[in-house]
Amino acid sequence: MDISKQVITTFKTQFGGEPTFLARAPGRVNLIGEHTDYNDGFVLPMAIDRAAWIALHPRDDGRVRVYSLDYEEKAEFSLDGLHKGKGWTEYIKGVANELKVAGLQVKGWDGILGGDVPKGAGLSSSAALELAAARAFAAVSKFDWNSAQMAQIGQKAENRWVGVNCGIMDQMVSAAAQAGHALFLDCRSLEYEHVPLPDGVAVVVMDTSTRRGLVDSAYNERRAQCEAAAKFFGVPALRDVNLEEFNAKSGDLENTVMRRARHIITENQRVLDAVAAMRTGNVQDLGRLFNESHTSLRDDFEVTNEALNQIVAAAQVHPACFGARMTGAGFGGCAVALVDEKQMGGFISTVAENYRQHSGFEAQFYVCLPSEGASIVQLTISD
Ligand code: GLA
Repeated sequence: MDISKQVITTFKTQFGGEPTFLARAPGRVNLIGEHTDYNDGFVLPMAIDRAAWIALHPRDDGRVRVYSLDYEEKAEFSLDGLHKGKGWTEYIKGVANELKVAGLQVKGWDGILGGDVPKGAGLSSSAALELAAARAFAAVSKFDWNSAQMAQIGQKAENRWVGVNCGIMDQMVSAAAQAGHALFLDCRSLEYEHVPLPDGVAVVVMDTSTRRGLVDSAYNERRAQCEAAAKFFGVPALRDVNLEEFNAKSGDLENTVMRRARHIITENQRVLDAVAAMRTGNVQDLGRLFNESHTSLRDDFEVTNEALNQIVAAAQVHPACFGARMTGAGFGGCAVALVDEKQMGGFISTVAENYRQHSGFEAQFYVCLPSEGASIVQLTISD
């Protein structure tokens, strides 16, 4: 049974009665523009056909009760006097808290939560949960949905409540994506455009099955290095430095910081070039930009691991592959490949075997369809 149906059926057994709304928010894969979001730069992620779902019914007493299908666990909290705790409910509490901080009147609900975004793989299962929760609160509290505002609420929940220092990319694409399209986002202005995916090309997410601890500290270290570089150039963020200025002055930068900055500055340009390639349907150019992005993330930004390098190399040598790169924060998790749709079966089996031989790990493959951002469906009429 698909998860949207499962959350509805479980609602009846857990709470009795029918749920009123079905909220849904997708995970994402980033096509290109890695680690550029917190540098006020450009990104080109795509919402995937895997999501978090909540079947819910409003409550009038300011309480939220949620049952998680994955954890087979029920949690309950009051919207007055929210307290930090541990586990999956923190994302929902964090969103409730930020909605209140934003001055919105927030009401409670009973809900069943389910999802099929793999956790910890770098496909943004947490952003999906945050935006599904925001959709749920918006429905019962009857406030209008504003994608950029809700994405910022989700990001703040993650930064200030959960304690993860992420940028805005994951929440924005989960909030605002359009089916069939990637989201070209300016992370400074939050302006975005929907860019159609070229015909005949499949987006294949390749999970290395490796996870690395200490991702947060390595991520924060990269952020600090980027900030140091921006300070050196005398600008608010690396977004404001072009390649010419970089080349003219970078000789005076400490080597590691210089390479971090070079990645961001060249990656921003690659995003702009990738958008142009997508618009003209030039998949060869798009693939080349993927490959260049991976090299830059491996050598300059140093956020790949051996497994990511191996799976990307295995994909890149396959004749059906236009290009491949690591995706997300890095250090393990997933890579993404652009593959000729007609040759997908052969691509997956060959890359799986090649990767197994080189790394000893079993990869997981997800062929992802570009899907719609967070949505809400009214199932029954309530008063
Ligand atoms: C994580 C963060 C994003 C972004 C990427 C790297 O996914 O949540 O905000 O910084 O890493 O591009």
